[in-house]
Amino acid sequence: MSETVQVELSERSYPIVIDAGVFSGSSIAPSTSLRAVIQRVEPLKHALVISDHQVLSTARTLANALEANGIRVSLCDVPSGERSKSIVELDRLWNWMLDEKADRKSVVFAVGGGVIGDLAGFVAASFARGLRFVQVPTSLLAMVDSSVGGKTGINLEKAKNIIGAFWQPQAVIIDTDQLATLPAREYFSGLAEVVKYGMIMDAAFMNRLEVLADKLLDRDADALREIIAHSCRCKAAVVKDDERETTGLRAILNYGHTFAHAIEATAGYGKLLHGEAVSIGMAMAGQLAVSLGMIDQQSITSQNNLLSELQLPIDHSQFDLAELWTAMQSDKKVELGRLGFILPTRIGEVKRVEGISLNDLSTALR
Ligand SMILES: NC(=O)c1ccc[n+]([C@@H]2O[C@H](COP(=O)([O-])OP(=O)(O)OC[C@H]3O[C@@H](n4cnc5c(N)ncnc54)[C@H](O)[C@@H]3O)[C@@H](O)[C@H]2O)c1
Ligand SMILES: [Zn+2]
Repeated sequence: MSETVQVELSERSYPIVIDAGVFSGSSIAPSTSLRAVIQRVEPLKHALVISDHQVLSTARTLANALEANGIRVSLCDVPSGERSKSIVELDRLWNWMLDEKADRKSVVFAVGGGVIGDLAGFVAASFARGLRFVQVPTSLLAMVDSSVGGKTGINLEKAKNIIGAFWQPQAVIIDTDQLATLPAREYFSGLAEVVKYGMIMDAAFMNRLEVLADKLLDRDADALREIIAHSCRCKAAVVKDDERETTGLRAILNYGHTFAHAIEATAGYGKLLHGEAVSIGMAMAGQLAVSLGMIDQQSITSQNNLLSELQLPIDHSQFDLAELWTAMQSDKKVELGRLGFILPTRIGEVKRVEGISLNDLSTALR
């Protein structure tokens, strides 16, 4: 069974198709889901498949299916990891596309996690003033977060995601079977963003996640399709009203992230996965909100219990608050020098609060 979520962005609207067995079968005949995606980019004569090295076999299956449909395919293997979101890799891909005689009608397929989505998306946005592209996210984080919203880009040595463009894909195709090979920590890390959607905008979804927790630990296909589709719906609803992050609405997606970015910066990038830092960050934001009298302890306890059940860390005691505070002051989301925290007012609702002091943090978290 497949499910489709439509991301509504007027003429840039696109479908996210969620299915199983799209790239795992031995048949080269494209599944109905893949055919629907191919139709979105017709006439398709030349596909540029850009793949994370780790999921090359998925990219090859896709390439074979496209070739069986008479489409010329160029395939490029990109090393796994954040370091590939670099100017060096971008330059290599641009030149590869030139060598492969890509033109304005070529379509980029990004096969991999958020790293490949961001990198290949930006390659598509920038080559020949913009090529169409299709996302094939293979990590849970990419399925529920980075493939929705159109942010693409690379890092500079000194700043993450600082070079980039808003560039919406023509379509996203998600094969939940891909998650079978995703390392456990990466998988749970993706679930942190899923819990985030429940906390910021959907109390019923939080209840549903509690019900599905055991199945999610087993990576059950039906449970995954349900929570991935719902997460995409949540993010799409936010993005729809703030496509380019101008109205401030999109800021609610930053719940737990002010803390998380500071944790990632002080713990040293790479020690904790992003979702792990977000999980600790949501626990901290929750405690801060309790301390400020914005929400009851019980709600935050149930948030934290769900995170723990999903194998995510919630303990911040190893971090120095003053050090985190200093790191927060240089977070790029600090608007006009005013640090704002997205804090819960009840399960399923958050608001942005300014004027929090280090003292408030210490009182809440010590
Ligand atoms: N564009 C956005 O809106 C947005 C949102 C959130 C995050 N991001 C970006 O996404 C990136 C993080 O994404 P990520 O967590 O997917 O990281 P990632 O792309 O590095 O993937 C995580 C790891 O899992 C491996 N992997 C991916 N799919 C696999 C599979 N099916 N089986 C086995 N291994 C697999 C990768 O090789 C990698 O080692 C960051 O660069 C971040 O800035 C972008
Ligand atoms: Zn995040």
